[in-house]
Amino acid sequence: MTAADNPPDPAGEPMDLIPAPRTAAGSGPGFFTPDARTVLRAGPGTATAERWLRSAVGPALGLPLAPANTGRTDGTEPAEPAEPAANAEPADRTDRAEPAGNAIVLLVDESLEREGYRLQVDAARGVEIRGGSAAGVFWGAQTLRQLLGPDAFRRAPIAPGAVRGIAEQIIEDSPRFSWRGLMLDVSRHFTQKTDILRYLDLLAAHKLNVFHFHLTDDQGWRIEIKRYPRLTETGSWRSRSKWGHRYSELWDEKPYGGYYTQDDIREIVAYAADRHITVVPEIDVPGHSQAAIAAYPELGNTDVVDTASLSPWDDWGVSPHVLAPTENTLRFYEGVLEEVLDLFPAELSPYIHIGGDECPKDQWKASPAAQARIAELGVGDEDGLQSWFIRHFDSWLTARGRRLVGWDEILEGGLAPGATVSSWRGYGGGITAAEAGHDVVMCPEQQVYLDHRQDGGPDEPMPIGYVRTLEDVYRFEPVPPTLSPEAAAHVIGTQANVWTEVMQERSRIDYQVFPRLAAFAEVAWSRLPAPAERDYAGFERRMNGHYRRLDALGVDYRPPGGPLPWQKRPGVAGFPKEGTPPNV
Ligand code: ACM
Repeated sequence: MTAADNPPDPAGEPMDLIPAPRTAAGSGPGFFTPDARTVLRAGPGTATAERWLRSAVGPALGLPLAPANTGRTDGTEPAEPAEPAANAEPADRTDRAEPAGNAIVLLVDESLEREGYRLQVDAARGVEIRGGSAAGVFWGAQTLRQLLGPDAFRRAPIAPGAVRGIAEQIIEDSPRFSWRGLMLDVSRHFTQKTDILRYLDLLAAHKLNVFHFHLTDDQGWRIEIKRYPRLTETGSWRSRSKWGHRYSELWDEKPYGGYYTQDDIREIVAYAADRHITVVPEIDVPGHSQAAIAAYPELGNTDVVDTASLSPWDDWGVSPHVLAPTENTLRFYEGVLEEVLDLFPAELSPYIHIGGDECPKDQWKASPAAQARIAELGVGDEDGLQSWFIRHFDSWLTARGRRLVGWDEILEGGLAPGATVSSWRGYGGGITAAEAGHDVVMCPEQQVYLDHRQDGGPDEPMPIGYVRTLEDVYRFEPVPPTLSPEAAAHVIGTQANVWTEVMQERSRIDYQVFPRLAAFAEVAWSRLPAPAERDYAGFERRMNGHYRRLDALGVDYRPPGGPLPWQKRPGVAGFPKEGTPPNV
């Protein structure tokens, strides 16, 4: 999108859409300004967008966005339910129809791409959003909120009647990738359920559609599993936490924990579904399992470690305590996954992530039981054992109609037949997997780990990793140019990952995630040219408008000039890495 085809608002400012749509062009000199009489006419299959417009955008504008055909045209009465009561007489629609025009019309039009939409603004008639599916209509509704100006992102109007007009225009849009994700680690620091719901809203506002929920790790087990209550009784809290990176000498000495009940999970999954976001739960095996082993010591390598004395880890890093490769362990995790599959139904969560990353092999090397298992299974070595673990859950999930996703270490010892790979240690694992015909989500740490610091200055809070600026993320390319077209088609999308060791509270997460998630969203949605040719200056200009939206939403982003005083963490050590990241 260029400034020339980006129609101005009545104040003469460009509309600053993020992510940039495929095309946007002015279609007339007029403006449409929604008012108290504007009706929301929702065609079949558009209920998610209808609900969201009426519950999120209507209150921000102070407008009822009343259903069409209710007989009300003056907007003075409260909105009525769209559906008549079961015993109601059929409405006489001929004499009660509202006048044509002054409507927001939602329609499914299957001639469009599934997640695509066409949004038309007409001064006299209002707004029409056609989407290729309910999801397409919903993404179009998100664009409409951006067109309505930053105050449309608030919860209530800040001035009566101050609704911004929208220039007449036609926007045609559809996403580049079907997997546009954010992973949030809720193990190292726990994100409250209400803040998860807030993040789902933030994802939707950026047209991101996958929430990868990293629910288990060494430092905390965060999902209630009814048949194994100790996973949360023991595994969901630790006695203290490292304050800063693991090389910091500071401790926060208070007990720390939290978990989601099964009803919390159901609520999160349903809330996400209403926003066309799929939740991908991650239960990490066979590494990153110290919290589970602390709860059920028999899951660990009991012949080499006194697992009964373990607690959920209070420090950061990769714990040496990994699962024992026993039948008992397999049955235990099948039990966990049975409950997980029930909570994340197949139609909403076809993908289940089983981790597979960073599994130190030292305990298996030292354990006579693990060595005997290697011999018995004929898998050769410890890598073979890791692969055996993952293959087991690949066939187990496949038999239940699900698809396994794992971090790229699952390539070691041979990739399970149905596996999709999250390529995090660079592009390499993703390239190998895609060339072997496996689907890939590109999320290289050198590029899109949002825990990495975003500036080289001394004021970055608890700085870790490489400097990855807003511009670096904007120039991230998920599909390596060396891939053949067939292999490239296996890159189903991309994901930004957020590990929370140094993010103790929501504002720290916001700071690391924003504004870079806005750049990431454009990479994932828009069809940008090759990295060097991307119009970063234009993106930065549009960010001026987008910061005002984030302000209205209450997002504690990193300002372009650097951290505000209360965003700094002086004296708390991070672990910045210098130079150019490898494997770029
Ligand atoms: C990872 O960052 N260990 C997937």
